[in-house]
Amino acid sequence: MASASFQHVTKRFPDGEVAVKDISLLVVDGEFMVIVGPSGCGKSTVLRMLAGLEDVTEGVVRIGDRVVNDVPPRNRDVSMVFQDYALYPHMSVFDNMSFGLRMRGFAAPEIESRVLRAANALGLGSLLNRKPRELSGGQQQRVALGRAIVKDPLVFLFDEPLSSIDAKLRAETRVDLKRVQRGLGATFLYVTHDQVEAMTMGDRLAVMKDGELQQVAPPLEIYDHPANLFVAGFVGTPAMNFIPVTVNGRKVKAAAIEIELQRPAAVDRAVLGIRPEALSVRMSPSIPTIDMKVDMAETLGRDQLIYGTVGGDGIVARIDSHLKVTRGDRMRLSIDVGLVHLFDVDTGQAFM
Ligand SMILES: Nc1ncnc2c1ncn2[C@@H]1O[C@H](COP(=O)(O)OP(=O)(O)O)[C@@H](O)[C@H]1O
Ligand SMILES: [Mg+2]
Repeated sequence: MASASFQHVTKRFPDGEVAVKDISLLVVDGEFMVIVGPSGCGKSTVLRMLAGLEDVTEGVVRIGDRVVNDVPPRNRDVSMVFQDYALYPHMSVFDNMSFGLRMRGFAAPEIESRVLRAANALGLGSLLNRKPRELSGGQQQRVALGRAIVKDPLVFLFDEPLSSIDAKLRAETRVDLKRVQRGLGATFLYVTHDQVEAMTMGDRLAVMKDGELQQVAPPLEIYDHPANLFVAGFVGTPAMNFIPVTVNGRKVKAAAIEIELQRPAAVDRAVLGIRPEALSVRMSPSIPTIDMKVDMAETLGRDQLIYGTVGGDGIVARIDSHLKVTRGDRMRLSIDVGLVHLFDVDTGQAFM
């Protein structure tokens, strides 16, 4: 296995589109790195530049210590798994997994030992003679992964491999992928637009927007300390509440919200960020509260989402389902001040 890195990498397509802007990112050897961001933000282009399927306009791409800018794709020692993993329908699992190795002229005993090892790691050991149509969707997915594993690449690349499968299978495959990555000690660079997928699988996330990296950090750090408004709004379900406020030292005010921050901020205006889960019905004299007019309650199971307004500002709260709430109710909610965020109005950068 190996690390992979991008150093000040920019990609400009011939039509002038700048898909990737000055990205620097190190994927550590053995790390599960997830690039996450909305559709069109440049994720696939980053991956394709590492695979050698797109050339680099500016900057340096490395696999391990080796600069690969001018190395053709087949000599880069990476395996790529796409969304559309298309197995050969007429071939057995064994033949599907060994096809690439046979094409590259590996000897039969080496092929067999690699396929068996990968098949066992993926729980496919007893299915090697089956055809794809005799497998469940999840097993087919694992055969596609097995095809990548037998190549014994330095880096695995995944481009939204789960986006076309149903929710239950997606959840199972997430766990499978993570387990396989750990088991192999493999370097994974994994692209998705799905923040839940990113949060659950990544050792670290690289959040992208409009061709630029926004923040690179472990999932919880992204959740707890988003670097800017974009990251704050992108990660977390439902999204963080954003409320325009005036600021005076530690005092922050909106139409019907008044709280004291733990630290002062040296601005007059800002955007206050409160996650729905930072609001609660538990009261204590020392905790500031807001008075919400309820528009709608939505049950999720253990929790419910309460949509409403506070002095004209729209707010969502996530609270215990067992509290009965209906449209038109007024609710007092306390704000966990340790969990609020404050962002610059103009740049979106986080103050805290
Ligand atoms: N071959 C190409 N020529 C011109 N523009 C492209 C090409 N491939 C991708 N793009 C553009 O580059 C941007 C990033 O694309 P892509 O990397 O596929 O985004 P993502 O994978 O995040 O959805 C998009 O605006 C897309 O239209
Ligand atoms: Mg893409």
